[in-house]
Amino acid sequence: MAERIRVLLTEEEVDAKIQEIGEQISRDYAGQQVHLVCVLKGGSFFMCELAKRITVPVSLDFMSVSSYGSETKSSGVVKIIKDLDEPLKDKNVIVIEDIVDSGRTLSYLLEMLRDRGPKSMKLCTLLDKPERRVIDVKVDYTGFQIPDEFVVGYGLDYDQRYRNLPYIGVVEFD
Ligand code: IMP
Ligand code: MG
Repeated sequence: MAERIRVLLTEEEVDAKIQEIGEQISRDYAGQQVHLVCVLKGGSFFMCELAKRITVPVSLDFMSVSSYGSETKSSGVVKIIKDLDEPLKDKNVIVIEDIVDSGRTLSYLLEMLRDRGPKSMKLCTLLDKPERRVIDVKVDYTGFQIPDEFVVGYGLDYDQRYRNLPYIGVVEFD
């Protein structure tokens, strides 16, 4: 089946928004250090661009998770594929995500990370689909709220492709 990508958010729009969030985080954490936790793979492009625009000291770590079972499983229990290298104890953690959808993965993940004793923990996502929310998740920094459409680019994939697009697009089928 042929597919096309319709541009939803241009590279310029995304870059400008990331600059804004970077400035906001730099203001909010003035005089402190932040520890960015990237949820692979989707969050990686966003995290790199964001980190470049934060002016307070930054450290980085990565983790990879996958949801157990299928959509029919209610709890959204998450399996850790790759855990963080560093402890979170006493750090100002900001979890960086590509998109918050149902909220299942993230609510479980945040709960688990909170148990590791960070000094503070916030959530930052490039995209949010509020209409799709099943579990309430508090998002502290949001790039864009988008409608319930399947998007790719800037780290987001369709069958592992399109992560490298420098803009956000909607996948359309002919
Ligand atoms: P949830 O919030 O637990 O439903 O999981 C969100 C995850 O589903 C994200 O981290 C993405 O990996 C994936 N996802 C959700 N919506 C999209 C989309 O529109 N495009 C690509 N991946 C998506
Ligand atoms: Mg993700």
